[in-house]
Amino acid sequence: MNLNTIDKNAAPPTEEPARQYYFMAKCRQYVKEIEEASGRRPTFFIQTFGCQMNARDSEKLAGVLLEAGYQEAESEDADFVVYNTCTVRENANLRVYGRLGVLHGYKKKNPHMKIALCGCMMQEAAVVEKLKKSYRFVDLIFGTHNIFKFAELLVSMFESDRMVIDIWKDTDQIVEDLPVDRKYPFKSGVNIMFGCNNFCSYCIVPYVRGRERSREPQEILREIRALVADGVVEVMLLGQNVNSYGKNLEHPVTFAELLRQVEQIDGLRRIRFMTSHPKDLSDELIQVMADSKKICRHLHLPLQSGSSRLLKIMNRRYTKEAYVALADRIRTAIPDIALTTDIIVGFPGETEEDFQETLDVVREVRYDSAFTFIYSKRTGTPAAAMDNQVPEDVVKERFDRLLKEVQRISGEMAERFAGTEQEVLVEEKNHQMEGCVSGRLSNNHVVHFPGDVSLIGQIVRVRLEECRGFYYMGHRQEP
Ligand code: SAH
Ligand code: SF4
Ligand code: F3S
Repeated sequence: MNLNTIDKNAAPPTEEPARQYYFMAKCRQYVKEIEEASGRRPTFFIQTFGCQMNARDSEKLAGVLLEAGYQEAESEDADFVVYNTCTVRENANLRVYGRLGVLHGYKKKNPHMKIALCGCMMQEAAVVEKLKKSYRFVDLIFGTHNIFKFAELLVSMFESDRMVIDIWKDTDQIVEDLPVDRKYPFKSGVNIMFGCNNFCSYCIVPYVRGRERSREPQEILREIRALVADGVVEVMLLGQNVNSYGKNLEHPVTFAELLRQVEQIDGLRRIRFMTSHPKDLSDELIQVMADSKKICRHLHLPLQSGSSRLLKIMNRRYTKEAYVALADRIRTAIPDIALTTDIIVGFPGETEEDFQETLDVVREVRYDSAFTFIYSKRTGTPAAAMDNQVPEDVVKERFDRLLKEVQRISGEMAERFAGTEQEVLVEEKNHQMEGCVSGRLSNNHVVHFPGDVSLIGQIVRVRLEECRGFYYMGHRQEP
């Protein structure tokens, strides 16, 4: 889309994405005015909190800001700063308030500076109230459902001298073909669905991301083909529960079927996905993974708790036994797969026996790595209203025990690949080890090895010489 051919004096188009390109053209005028007033090209900085979904959203925000004429800055001392927020746990939330204070300092020194807040936290009414009251220096606030309208919101911001706030409760709209600025030229996230319908009783995501919506498979395939033509070799298919992909489409498609089609794309080398809910993981999917040459040998399978009693109260809809049996089927079908997980400690009413059940599963499944979280009470979720919250010191002590066990096992698991030769996608220069680059194996493990930055973006063969707990040291093998 050539923004120069857009008539900015005409009324804005009503259809998307044409409407947003019209507003991008308008933004350019405003950004140009800042440039003329300040005598330099205005800069932007985006700080992303939270998950891969947010990271992908930030690439879309950056795409619009580049079109509008901003250039990317290295730090928050920029002309336009966006915080793309997360609220899954309270500490993610608190960090935003802390850093806003620092931003205010920059803004006092830079009359052109604008501050925008978006993402999951903004979907909470109490947060927006607090910002309106105590953070008046913020210029623009929007949510997760109207992020496609970013260009239009920017124009509102430039044309207003007050805080602009636009939060939607939900949406069924999916707008395709907006600009994106990828962080990595060689790999990319691809949204396959938005929202979540699961309502796990501790989790705020369904409230802030809305109901589950899948993209049409043709749109997903078209996007991936375009990414591959632009140099991408690895995609990560993104959704809160990819295993329920496609159920609500006019012509339903399973996630396994979608993967089969993605696999057919020439030039694409690796496929990853995030996140799989154990309750919906089909045998068809295991088969597709086992047969695939491109799907990476890694599955993230959040456990949350090993206690069937707690799993029921969490509304996870599987039992300890069903989970362990599923992990077994996966390891049998794909022996070299790495299994990773998320675990919550201190869910309301968790007893020492419940916690022992979690340790039990950890020892039985033997995760390659696990993210462990202390339960965080999220306003509006059913678990927040439960009156048997576990005392902090008990939770902390359990958390430490779990972490120790998880680390011991993942260290042992990593040893099983030491001495093997593996394909590695080289991702970046290693800043700690002179002359080294770092990359990822199919199973998501990291390896550092001597090599030149010209290898970045390539898939090379590396011998894993030494396992150092969380990563390997290796040497590149001649092709
Ligand atoms: N859709 C993904 C999870 C997204 S949130 C899934 O179902 O697997 C990522 C992780 O954050 C969750 O797996 C869970 O372990 C953790 N989490 C979510 N809500 C939490 C809370 N209230 N307290 C602590 N951890 C939480
Ligand atoms: Fe949250 Fe559960 Fe949905 Fe994951 S599946 S986002 S944990 S409600
Ligand atoms: Fe956080 Fe929203 Fe992701 S709450 S984990 S950024 S979906």
